Amino acid sequence: MYNDLIEAALEARNFAYAPYSGFPVGSSVMMEDGTIFTGCNVENASFGATNCAERTAMFTAIAKGHQKMKALAVVGDLNTYTYPCGICRQVMVEFAENPQIPIIIIKSKEEFLVKTLEELLPGAFTKGDLETKEGAKYV
Ligand code: THU
Repeated sequence: MYNDLIEAALEARNFAYAPYSGFPVGSSVMMEDGTIFTGCNVENASFGATNCAERTAMFTAIAKGHQKMKALAVVGDLNTYTYPCGICRQVMVEFAENPQIPIIIIKSKEEFLVKTLEELLPGAFTKGDLETKEGAKYV
């Protein structure tokens, strides 16, 4: 069921630019209409400028006009399960169709875990929180 996303994430990992950490990561997202976009981590000599694979995938989708995400897959270390970092979880919340979308954490083509976004980031801060503030005009 998640085959296409898993294959796309594994392939994207090959394009990682990770000369400083030596830790390549690949990610893929499926958007509302079924289109898949991919991303890899992109590091920088100024380490803080690094972009994670998941955010690269999500931002690529946004830049192509797709804003509703219905699944995300990620693969880092092939010997274990690499979970998404906190910043990427927050960005997922922004674009996820709902808090129950599957986040697929891949070790290999056959070995992967499926969590909901809500399991990974319970009690998330969302655009809804801004609406409750009188006068807020962020949404
Ligand atoms: N990394 C990701 O791409 N995604 C994550 O969720 C965790 C960390 C990358 C950032 C950096 O290039 C490398 O892994 C080591 O932190």
